[in-house]
Amino acid sequence: MTTKKERVFSGIQPSGDIHIGNYMGAIKKWVELTDTHECIYCIVDDHAITVDYDPALLPQRTFDGALAVMACGLDPEKCALFVQSHVPEHTELTWLFNTVTPLGSLFRMTQFKDKARNALQRALNTRQGGARKTALFQLKNIGLKMRDLMGDLHADVDELNPTSPYKGEQELVLTELVARLNDRMGAVMQHLQVGLGVAEASVGLFDYPVLQAADILLYKAPWVPVGEDQEQHLELCREVAERFNRKFGDIFPATQRIRGETAKIIGLDGKQKMSKSLNNTIGILDSYEEIERRLKPAYTDPRRLRRDDPGHPEDCNIFALHKLFSSPEACAEIAEGCSQGTLGCLECKQRLAVSIDTHLAPIRDRAETLRANPSRVIAGIEHGREQASRIAVETMREVRDAMGIGKNALAKF
Ligand code: TYM
Repeated sequence: MTTKKERVFSGIQPSGDIHIGNYMGAIKKWVELTDTHECIYCIVDDHAITVDYDPALLPQRTFDGALAVMACGLDPEKCALFVQSHVPEHTELTWLFNTVTPLGSLFRMTQFKDKARNALQRALNTRQGGARKTALFQLKNIGLKMRDLMGDLHADVDELNPTSPYKGEQELVLTELVARLNDRMGAVMQHLQVGLGVAEASVGLFDYPVLQAADILLYKAPWVPVGEDQEQHLELCREVAERFNRKFGDIFPATQRIRGETAKIIGLDGKQKMSKSLNNTIGILDSYEEIERRLKPAYTDPRRLRRDDPGHPEDCNIFALHKLFSSPEACAEIAEGCSQGTLGCLECKQRLAVSIDTHLAPIRDRAETLRANPSRVIAGIEHGREQASRIAVETMREVRDAMGIGKNALAKF
């Protein structure tokens, strides 16, 4: 690793098997960038513990995460691959960034809102009549509370008279209005949280994007190869850097996303992002049989009801996957066969299974070799930790000095 090349940072959660969405959205790019950039990659176990998890299983998942990215072709000699919790400066910088991050920015994060919505949806979908009823009552209560709060707000606003000749009166009303708005905002947020089922979510989950900003900025990395789903987190990272720099001096760069092979892979349900938690994935270590089994019920062109109906490849997620895994010639042939109704969905999926398997076979082979030599994985992440640590310690020294905290700040006494 030379220090002259531009620096890249990225991370992946150790939350089960890595899937082809992770691979095409990010990891493939991670590997390519090691030839041209100084790359730092991280298995983010501190992020993984922000949701319910089993501490007995996490070490295996962390190990498997490191093994999987190495199996994808990441050479720990050509980059720094390490485990987040092994470099404690990540969490220290998170705390310091918390002091410059507005609550409002975190409330806007869609990932947090999604998790909140999912929690509510789970309650509404539950078969237990009691839990469902409670969720519905909760919803009704939020609605009523919001209506009241909005009503109160009308009255507050009406009281403000910008044409009043009395400057003192205006200031008084304004101060009062700001205070009341603050109260109302607090109340609205509180009701939203309770209502949307996030009352039980941890502060850690809420703070997740700040930890992500700390990951990147600890290494002052201007480049981050991630999928499209992480764009909002990168926006927050830029905001945190800007706010910090404005207050404490120019320390952190603005961060940009590097696109992977594709911005976003849709899952086998044909609707949502491919994601482990939605069970709509193909794992990078899946066998040919497993790939075939998973593809069989996968969603295709909804307008094609019979085998000889003409299909619409551009509206079919299976064809989108062909474009990533099959050759351009094969894609052209498939598009033609599908549009003319001569190639059935089943056969199209079988051809896709072969293409995906051809891509994944060398990854599976490398994974098998690594599994037989676990010390290679451990040595790889230890080597990475040493390199990452060296940079992290240096950045934290600079940050503490700029903020007037730490032992150094008292050296003059
Ligand atoms: P994670 O673990 O969810 O995903 C790892 C990488 O895979 C990409 N990805 C996808 N790309 C395309 N299509 C999909 N269906 C798909 N699913 C996942 C993600 O965009 C990501 O690049 N918060 C991050 C981990 C993280 C991080 C960081 C990333 C923590 N700190 C600092 C970059 C920099 C996450 O949960 O990724």
